[in-house]
Amino acid sequence: MSIKNKDQQIVSKERVASFAEVYTAQNEVNAMLDLVDHEINKLESRFFEPACGDGNFLIEVLDRKLKVLSSKYKKNQFEFEKNSIVVNGSLYGIDVLSDNVVNTRKRLKKKFFQMYEYIFKNTMNQNFVKSINFIIDKNIIHGDALTLKKVNLDVPVIFSEWTIVNSKLKRRDFTLSELMSYTFEKGTLFSDEGKNVNLASPLKEYSFTDYDMAYIND
Ligand SMILES: C[S@@+](CC[C@H](N)C(=O)[O-])C[C@H]1O[C@@H](n2cnc3c(N)ncnc32)[C@H](O)[C@@H]1O
Repeated sequence: MSIKNKDQQIVSKERVASFAEVYTAQNEVNAMLDLVDHEINKLESRFFEPACGDGNFLIEVLDRKLKVLSSKYKKNQFEFEKNSIVVNGSLYGIDVLSDNVVNTRKRLKKKFFQMYEYIFKNTMNQNFVKSINFIIDKNIIHGDALTLKKVNLDVPVIFSEWTIVNSKLKRRDFTLSELMSYTFEKGTLFSDEGKNVNLASPLKEYSFTDYDMAYIND
């Protein structure tokens, strides 16, 4: 397991040589994300970091989305939780190094639960907590961005689309390769943004569940 300080950009010379592992500095992350701040402010806008390291971009996107989420919904736990599923479900990453995957998941969970516990410490919903953990584990994958397969396995990287419809959760699974071909062709991930074009075909569709029961479909 790699250990690095908060502002350190390199773990080891070997990892730089083998995996081009140089983490992006916070001021550079901020400058790049400022260019798409209007998208980040939409809770449902999806972000994919294809070589996520320990999640420097995803963490900052989450931080910005949480500011919007809390300002809108901190007085309404039901709306806060429902929209948290959308927010956490909108962040995707893969990395070829397993410790980076573990660290990205940990950082996202820590940031989210710090806010959730602070606002709702006396009324925390344990099904919701399990669902957020489940979604983050599903969305941050130990995979190879070149082959679009899981590392050392001959199985494709699969991403789930999480949407809330009338307070119910809908999950659909897609292979990353299918999503990438549509994204390059049409410029969007999952959605057609209302343009009514042909979309990627899901590998699997799940029945609607309560929004806080994401983890029942493993
Ligand atoms: C330049 S770092 C960037 C990390 C992070 N995106 C950031 O900006 O801080 C490159 C990352 O790509 C990962 N990587 C290298 N080859 C990869 C591959 N084929 N598929 C997925 N990740 C890969 C490395 O493990 C490393 O974490």
